Amino acid sequence: MSDSVIAVYPGSFDPVTNGHLDILKRAARLFDRIIIAASESGRKLFDFALEERLTFLHDSVERLGYRNVEIDSFGGLLVHYARDRNASVIIRGLREVSDFEYEYQMSVMNRKLIPSIETVFLSTSSDYYFVSSSLIKEVAALGGDVSALVPSIVNDALIARRRKPLEG
Ligand code: PNS
Repeated sequence: MSDSVIAVYPGSFDPVTNGHLDILKRAARLFDRIIIAASESGRKLFDFALEERLTFLHDSVERLGYRNVEIDSFGGLLVHYARDRNASVIIRGLREVSDFEYEYQMSVMNRKLIPSIETVFLSTSSDYYFVSSSLIKEVAALGGDVSALVPSIVNDALIARRRKPLEG
């Protein structure tokens, strides 16, 4: 049996931001293998399709050159996915105090479901504590420059979207 510690880093990644990549960088130093797991469905309606979100993740991670990071997607319960991938850790990034209540609730529920899987919270760099995917999309849609806060492929997609007339 391998002693390597596999960690799942789940999220909507709608789209991935530099804040997510900052958490990934910290996690990649701590764990042997990281599986970034983009949620296929969830509480929210996604602005970017799963394929787009995965393309953004692949491009961003490739540029960073990590060897121990894999990208995947998951449906259903996160803990079931983590168990099926032999992961013993779930990574979540924390920004402000307001993140904590929801994150704590999720971590306790996940532990109730599968006690052997531990949630590890990593705090984001102060450079990104105000960065969320939803705020990025709002600012970009209204013409704000978010290029310092997202990977270049995401910035390009946000600009292309701004130019495109609204559908529907
Ligand atoms: O990036 P997000 O939107 O904060 O990620 C939330 C996510 C996808 C990690 C969370 O909604 C989740 O784990 N969804 C999978 C369904 C699940 O396991 N729900 C029970 C959580 S206690």
